[in-house]
Amino acid sequence: MMNTRNSLALLLLATVVLLAGCERPRPDTVQRGYRGTGTVEVHNPRVTALKVATAQAPEPLAAVPAGGPAASSVYKNVQVLGDVDAGELTRLMLAMTQWVAPQQGCAYCHAGADFAADTLYTKVVARRMLQMTRHINSDWKTHVGDTGVTCYTCHRGQNVPSEVWFTPPAQKRGQSFAGNKAGQNAPAASVALAALPYDPFTPFLSQSSDVRVVGDTPLATGNRHSIKQTEWTYSLMMHMSDALGVNCTYCHNSRSFTSWDTSTPQRATAWYGIRMARDLNSQYLESLSKVVPAHRLGSEGDAPKLNCATCHQAAFKPLYGAPMLKDYPQLGVVAHAAAAAPEEAVAQTKP
Ligand code: HEC
Ligand code: HEC
Ligand code: HEC
Ligand code: HEC
Repeated sequence: MMNTRNSLALLLLATVVLLAGCERPRPDTVQRGYRGTGTVEVHNPRVTALKVATAQAPEPLAAVPAGGPAASSVYKNVQVLGDVDAGELTRLMLAMTQWVAPQQGCAYCHAGADFAADTLYTKVVARRMLQMTRHINSDWKTHVGDTGVTCYTCHRGQNVPSEVWFTPPAQKRGQSFAGNKAGQNAPAASVALAALPYDPFTPFLSQSSDVRVVGDTPLATGNRHSIKQTEWTYSLMMHMSDALGVNCTYCHNSRSFTSWDTSTPQRATAWYGIRMARDLNSQYLESLSKVVPAHRLGSEGDAPKLNCATCHQAAFKPLYGAPMLKDYPQLGVVAHAAAAAPEEAVAQTKP
């Protein structure tokens, strides 16, 4: 016969096991749509507070008085920032150092005392990044609004942003006992641990494959999309939700994933985000494979590319909407000054 002490211990153990699945404090819900539509965000206030605390934008550097000489009249090799005041250029260099290379300092991009020389590949990439940042802030207001981005939005004090993706190696015939996994059937972090296709980025955020799969006619008449294609769409959706730290209902009313009428305004912002990611990967990042050293490349020889997580890092707005661009308006002007293609500029300098 079991004595009281034993059964008490057993009860205690069972309670601990059962409660281990519970979250403390109780998750909070925020209703974001009409009642009854299920447009609700579920979050744990403790985890949210932690996330917000670690995603704080650094204090802006003190402003410099405007009206100094243009950088182009003071410096020798300013292909992008020529129209910026010389004092503002120095302020921007200090900020860029804090955002991208706080450990290495100016030396990360400038070799020795000659600041005009393009000796290091990092300076050549940084020039391209300046152009890309201006392009995002001036031509993609449909997505980034007036909040905008700075180098810090992606880099957060690191040389290469923590959230980048590479082309996964193609699985060769007979390589695995489990047979061809068709780019899926393995829980992958890229799609929030779903066993869905683990590279939704190549077709949707680099190439322009169609995301839409739902037919607009009853039954299957006229809808040529397959379940296989639908899996790819779902894996992109898993990434997007994970990257923003939200549920599907942040953008959709799950009664109809296709209907725009019953979707939230955020879904339209996300639509532009998909187009922006395609533009940035294909026009700016992919060609850097010819500029950066081999140890920066993926196993297929491709350069690191961006997705929704590169800027968002699990927040519905990067840095919870901190408007950093307003303190660095020079990163928001239209990029008209043409710089040499980075491949040419670095041809002689690549290590
Ligand atoms: C992340 C890379 C990076 C870092 C770090 C960096 N710079 Fe620069 N710097 C650049 C780029 C890119 C240019 C060229 C901009 C252009 O072409 O418009 C430049 C240009 C300059 C120039 C103009 C030189 C000339 O005559 O053309 C000066 C001066 C300068 N930087 C100073 C600094 C100082 C001082 C620091 C450290 C506080 C620093 N930079 C840190 C990337 C960097
Ligand atoms: C939208 C996201 C994004 C923004 C904004 C951004 N970067 Fe980058 N940056 C990247 C990605 C992705 C890479 C990796 C690309 C590669 O290595 O080919 C990168 C790489 C770099 C590198 C190369 C680092 C190395 O060690 O190889 C430098 C330098 C750099 N960025 C500077 C900047 C500067 C300066 C700014 C602001 C003017 C900036 N970046 C803004 C995404 C961004
Ligand atoms: C950040 C906003 C956002 C989130 C979160 C999101 N979606 Fe989407 N979803 C979109 C957008 C935008 C499109 C249309 C993309 C396009 O047309 O290029 C779309 C399209 C779809 C489609 C295809 C609809 C059609 O007409 O064929 C399905 C299905 C879908 N989403 C399901 C989901 C599921 C399931 C989740 C959660 C795992 C989810 N979505 C999370 C924004 C979002
Ligand atoms: C270059 C950086 C960057 C990338 C990449 C990016 N976003 Fe954004 N996103 C932003 C900024 C900045 C805002 C804030 C805009 C504002 O305040 O109006 C934003 C806002 C949003 C919003 C609106 C949130 C709200 O509550 O109003 C959605 C939804 C969104 N992004 C989805 C996406 C999706 C999906 C992707 C990937 C396909 C993506 N973003 C990629 C920078 C980015």
